[in-house]
Amino acid sequence: MVTMNRNRVVIVGAGQVGSTVAFSIVTHGLCNELILIDHVPEKAIGEARDLDDGSEFQDRHVKVRAGDYADCADADIVVITVGRKPPANSNRMAELGFTVGLVGDVVDHVMSSGFNGVIVMVSNPVDVMAWYAWKRSGLPRAQVLGTGTALDTSRLKTIIGEETGLDPRNVGGFVMGEHGNSQFAAWSTVSLGGKPFARFLADNRSRFSSVSTDEVEEHTRRRGDDIVRVKGGTNFGIASTVAGIVQTILWDERRIVPVSTLLDGEYGEHDVFLGVPTELRANGANEIVELDLTDDELAKLHHSAQIVRAHCEGLL
Ligand code: LAC
Repeated sequence: MVTMNRNRVVIVGAGQVGSTVAFSIVTHGLCNELILIDHVPEKAIGEARDLDDGSEFQDRHVKVRAGDYADCADADIVVITVGRKPPANSNRMAELGFTVGLVGDVVDHVMSSGFNGVIVMVSNPVDVMAWYAWKRSGLPRAQVLGTGTALDTSRLKTIIGEETGLDPRNVGGFVMGEHGNSQFAAWSTVSLGGKPFARFLADNRSRFSSVSTDEVEEHTRRRGDDIVRVKGGTNFGIASTVAGIVQTILWDERRIVPVSTLLDGEYGEHDVFLGVPTELRANGANEIVELDLTDDELAKLHHSAQIVRAHCEGLL
């Protein structure tokens, strides 16, 4: 069983992503104690001090400090963000050769501390890295998950909000599959104000004539790369996503989030991690929601599975 301490989060990797995740956790007051680990210890010390310095003005004091792997022993969640700044015009899969060695080392160190909480994988290619961490750690399936298509789903909603002028939180539904080029918007699940999205557009054709589902999907898929091209990386969107996942686990909220989780027969897939709607609880990833996808959507999910599985081969 997971230790139900519910108050210690460790972030491994105090770079742009890790430190922004830390800031989001601090500003939301999600836990009692937040520990940063980095291969450059001074970097973790500096980020931790800087984060803690705002304590007077936070709603709750999250104690932030730099630490080491021994601190994972009784952590509830370890967030892994190691990696490098993605090269421009690259793709997430191209990071595999660089990231896999780092993630392997991190997982070994985390596990040798006696850790028995939930690993939240952020490092790209996240679906491959989550599968690898699950295999390498020996943890139960529930206790290893990746950020999956949670960020892509938020992006889809944001872009629909931009296109329609409506609040993105009016949008329901999911982007699924690989957090990468083969992801897809499961349009059969997407709704706006409770109406299927296509119906919503059709019923308001004059107002929304410029909105194209193909373009929305393509912008969603490209959004990460577009941001990398102009600012050299992404951090705020992914950090909000990770903080949301950490919150629902620590607080046992049971939100359904499209994290990357092990498919074990669901959607006819096995031994692969993909972004699918999953019930998150204090012990991590629980039941997967098996949606009635169309044949076309299911084919896209299988396509993502093939790609991710092919990149997992030979890693162990
Ligand atoms: C992105 C990175 C996290 O999509 O993959 O922003």
